[in-house]
Amino acid sequence: METSQLSRGQFLKQLGMSSAALMSFYCLGTGLTSCSSSSDDPTPSPTTGGGTNTNSGVTGTTSGAIDFTIDLTNSNFVKLKTEGEFTYVGDIIIANAKGTFVALSKVCTHQGTTINYRSGTNDFLCPNHGSQFKTDGTVSKDPATKALAVYKTELLNSGNSLKIKA
Ligand code: FES
Repeated sequence: METSQLSRGQFLKQLGMSSAALMSFYCLGTGLTSCSSSSDDPTPSPTTGGGTNTNSGVTGTTSGAIDFTIDLTNSNFVKLKTEGEFTYVGDIIIANAKGTFVALSKVCTHQGTTINYRSGTNDFLCPNHGSQFKTDGTVSKDPATKALAVYKTELLNSGNSLKIKA
């Protein structure tokens, strides 16, 4: 028994030394930089939440007690001047619904997927299970059963700013 344990210990010791020796050799051959870190993937992830805007062009509170204004001359929002266009600010979807600005919660009341605006039918569609909502937030097609929260919209500054408020 003792012999057996000793052999195993010696074996492990030798293995450790071999690995260290191999590593040293590898490092010498490839330069220090490739051996200085244990990080597997140093590539930074540039992902920043698809489809949402930066805060540029927005002033005010975009979560909780909603009360903010977007600058419709800002490059993030200028497209909203075109009928049928829509965008997201925080948890709100803002659409130019046939010339009328509407702002609703973007969070589907079924299971929380982000909804889209459809200009052709002037309504909102959840791509997950197909729930549909009217521009007043009410459900027009299940499985969602609860209406979306709707926010007040008001054009200011000769139509160059849009105020959204709970
Ligand atoms: S999460 Fe929107 S329909 Fe299911």
